[in-house]
Amino acid sequence: SDQSGFDTDVWTLTRFVIETGRQAKGATGELTQLINAILTAVKAISSAVRKAGLNHLQGLAGSVNVTGDDVKKLDVLSNDLVINMLRASYSTCCMVSEENRELIVTPRDKRGKYVVCFDPLDGSSNIDCLASIGTIFAIYKRVSEGEPTEKDALQPGNHMVCAGYALYGSATLVALSTGAGLNFFMLDPAIGEFILTEKNVKIKPRGKIYSLNEGYAKYFHPSVNEYLKHKKYPEDGSAPYGARYVGSMVSDVHRTIAYGGIFMYPANEKSPQGKLRLLYECNPIAFLIEQAGGVATTGTQRVLDVQPETLHQRVPFVVGSPEDVNEYLTFVEKYP
Ligand code: AHM
Ligand code: MG
Repeated sequence: SDQSGFDTDVWTLTRFVIETGRQAKGATGELTQLINAILTAVKAISSAVRKAGLNHLQGLAGSVNVTGDDVKKLDVLSNDLVINMLRASYSTCCMVSEENRELIVTPRDKRGKYVVCFDPLDGSSNIDCLASIGTIFAIYKRVSEGEPTEKDALQPGNHMVCAGYALYGSATLVALSTGAGLNFFMLDPAIGEFILTEKNVKIKPRGKIYSLNEGYAKYFHPSVNEYLKHKKYPEDGSAPYGARYVGSMVSDVHRTIAYGGIFMYPANEKSPQGKLRLLYECNPIAFLIEQAGGVATTGTQRVLDVQPETLHQRVPFVVGSPEDVNEYLTFVEKYP
């Protein structure tokens, strides 16, 4: 860096995406366009999230903002942003969003070869208390020819080309992988660019934190409760684990990658498949966790090997440090 403290050869996410796109065999630049479109949406969502409280104040004056427009709810606004930016990138043929029941088919004249499954604003129950929220996405190559169909979106996670999440936390961070390791980028609001801050991130083999909504213990399978008891009252004299649960998956997962440990949303009697959605919540996170050397399981199967049946299906979800997740699985195996 030069004497003014500026790095004049910084690795921005844009640069990183162009560079890795260039290195790929037979690359056309379409994936680069696609990722850049998502990043534009993420920057806009980040800005909207940071302004949400102020908009709310203006809203009190009569539910319209100063410009006279209706204040759009953040989750609706985020969904519109992602869909519009992706359409304008000429790189997608269809999309699946948590906010849309049906497959979103790209207008014919704007189509490209990719499929994107996304949750535009996950953890939206946390918006009103100012806790962190996030955006999650998974990218696949289309498999059909002609009109895009649900089949293009119902691919198992092991076909994924790229995945990422944005965390709107104390800073805005993007975690991204194209299958060659996991990298973290931090948004520098001064220049509106994401800067590479951690390369080839690896999760610890074992952590000291467990993370789930333990309030549902009454409805958990006994294997989950036995595992939790083991974490709180270790029989071997080791220290009990700490408990952390934001209730916003991107935050809970990001902490798990950063500090190690286990995050879970297991099945329970009220939600026999858990709560989290396979296509745009579990699969992209499973891909990123595996890229960091972690494990992602439904309890009976590797998440990325699940063959999806429907766009919004749920799966039980357990991810984290390999030793922690494998230890959990030993409790599952006690109940054949
Ligand atoms: P959402 O997509 O409606 O925001 O729900 C998903 C969120 C996840 O971020 C989080 O892990 C989970 O719901 C928390 O659920 P619960 O309140 O049951 O613990
Ligand atoms: Mg969600």
